[in-house]
Amino acid sequence: MLKQLEEIRSTALRELDSIDNVSELESWRVRYLGKKSELTKVLRSLAALSLAERKTVGACANEVRASLESGLEQKRQALREMQLAALAGRESVDITLPGRCPPAGHLHPITQTLDEICDIFASMGFQVVEGPEVEWNYYNFEALNIPKGHPARDSMSTSWIDFETEDGERPMLLRTHTTSVTARNIETMKPPIRVIEPGKVYRYEASDATHTPMFHQIDGLAVDKSITMADLKGTLYEFARRFFGEERKVRFRCDYFPFVEPGIEMAIECLVCSGGGCRLCGNTGWIEILGAGMTHSQVLERGGLDPEVYTSFAFGMGVERLPMLRYGIDDIRLFYGSDLRFLRQF
Ligand code: DAH
Repeated sequence: MLKQLEEIRSTALRELDSIDNVSELESWRVRYLGKKSELTKVLRSLAALSLAERKTVGACANEVRASLESGLEQKRQALREMQLAALAGRESVDITLPGRCPPAGHLHPITQTLDEICDIFASMGFQVVEGPEVEWNYYNFEALNIPKGHPARDSMSTSWIDFETEDGERPMLLRTHTTSVTARNIETMKPPIRVIEPGKVYRYEASDATHTPMFHQIDGLAVDKSITMADLKGTLYEFARRFFGEERKVRFRCDYFPFVEPGIEMAIECLVCSGGGCRLCGNTGWIEILGAGMTHSQVLERGGLDPEVYTSFAFGMGVERLPMLRYGIDDIRLFYGSDLRFLRQF
C-alpha cells in the first residue's frame, strides 16, 4: 500500500507539472483528490487495517494528500500569474508614447485680418459694432446723401431684394458698403461715439482677380464736440503705422464721397517698390488704402445730431486688399475658393 501511495504521488506530480490551463488542472484535481480518486479509496480502506498499519499507511496517505494539495495550490497560482501576464501583453498602454494630435483648424485669413484691424482700433478706444447685411435702401444710400439717380449709386452695382412696396419701390438690398452701419450708429448712439464697423458687403459684379460679389469692409466713425481733420489723420496714420510697419510712408489727398465734406483718401508707399514705381502701384509708388473725411453736416442732421454742436470723422476700407498687399496675393478669388493648400498658409 505504501508503494501504491508513492506511485500515486509520483504520477500525479508528474502530470501536474505538464498542465498549462485551468480546465486541465480541474480534471487533475478530480482525478487525484476527488471522491473517486485512488487516494480517497486508500484513505477509506484504512478502517479495515490493523492499528499499526493504519498508523503508517494513514500518515503516508495524509502526507501524499498534503503534497498533492500544495502542488495544486502552487499550480493554480502559477496559472493565474501566466494569465495576467498574457492579458498585460495584449492590452498594455505605453504611456510614454506621444498622443495623436487631432487636426486643428484655424481662422480664415480674412477673419484674422478683421480681428487684427479691430484690435488696433479697439486699442485707440473704438468699439466694434456690427449691422445687418440685408439693409434698407435708406441706410445704405439715402441717409448718406446718395439719393436715387446719384452717380455714386450706379457705381455700386447693387443686389436688390426682390420685394416691392405699393408704389413700386424696392426698399431693401444687400448692403454695398459698411458705411450703412455708420448711418445707423449716427441715428442710434449718443456722442461721444467711437465705433469700428466690420462686415461683409455685396456688389452685383462678375468675379475676376480683383473682384468678388462678396467681400469685406471696415468703416469707422467718431463723433464728439470738437473732432477735427487732425484727429482723423492722426487715427489713420497710427493705424497704417501699426498695420504696415513704422517706416511705411502715408499720403493723404483730396477725394469725393457724398457723405463726407471734405473727403480724403489715404495711400501708403508701395510695398513692392517702396515708392520707386512698379506694376502693383501702376508706377505711382503709392497704393490707395481707404476713403475718409469729415462727416457731412446733412448726414449728422438726418441722424438727429446738431452739426453746430457736433463734428465727426468717418472712414472706410476694403479688407481683402490688405493681406493681398502684405503677402503678395494676386487673386482675391483665392480667399473664397476653399483650396486648403492656399488657406493653410495663414
Ligand atoms: N463706403 C466707401 C466705399 O465703399 C468708403 C468710404 C469712404 C467710407 C469715405 C467712409 C468714408 O466712411 O468716409 O467706397
